[in-house]
Amino acid sequence: NMRNKIVAGNWKMNCDISQTYELLDELKDSELPEDVTVIVTPPFTSLQSANQALVDSDIIVAAQNMHQAANGAFTGEVSAAMLNGVGIDTVILGHSERRAMFWETNEILAAKVNTALENEMTAIFCFGEELGDRKSDNHFNIVKEQLQEGLFHIKAENWESIVLAYEPVWAIGTGETASPEQAQEMHKYVRGLVADIFGNEVAKSVSILYGGSVNPANAKEIFGQEDVDGGLIGGAALKAEDFIAIVNSF
Ligand code: G3H
Repeated sequence: NMRNKIVAGNWKMNCDISQTYELLDELKDSELPEDVTVIVTPPFTSLQSANQALVDSDIIVAAQNMHQAANGAFTGEVSAAMLNGVGIDTVILGHSERRAMFWETNEILAAKVNTALENEMTAIFCFGEELGDRKSDNHFNIVKEQLQEGLFHIKAENWESIVLAYEPVWAIGTGETASPEQAQEMHKYVRGLVADIFGNEVAKSVSILYGGSVNPANAKEIFGQEDVDGGLIGGAALKAEDFIAIVNSF
């Protein structure tokens, strides 16, 4: 397919500034395929330095989260303008850890999506069911609800700024990845939902990443699925060697 291939490393709450430089040095020195967009997401404290360290590189630096408001009394939060000010124009929104541990609802995420779009940022919008949802065969419904309530209010032209990331919660950090068939099945379903509302052209061009225990051993088979356009990588993104191997797995 002609969609953008993307591998994004979600560093989560890892890497102080010296570890950030160390990891980026290794990534910078390695050969990366030209047809894959590579994204790293250091914590807020490393974003500006990471961007400067990668100034001569095609690797994109993104944030893991941001607040929906423009500014104000939101102690501990970071705005879109603050990210833009240090050269960041890509942000992960709705990661399952944000949903589960920091109470981010679909409604909050809809507001964050709007803020990202208003600030001309690209949003990597995460969604995915928990184990119980899959066991009760409710996974398609949950995903549909997350997308309808958090994302599908946007305009068709906004899809240029959206990357989707399907992350079944039961596969995150557990070593238990979704099977390539399970990933493909959900990605195809999601692309179909996008097509129903926004049309085939939009659905055909949006990249849908898979996340959840992707590693160098399983990446090729997962990325080989027709509707899987890359990955959102957690643990394996913290080891340069593994991350690079995954980037080279298409
Ligand atoms: O955003 C990344 C996901 O949470 C995947 O994490 O690769 O450690 O399972 P993981």
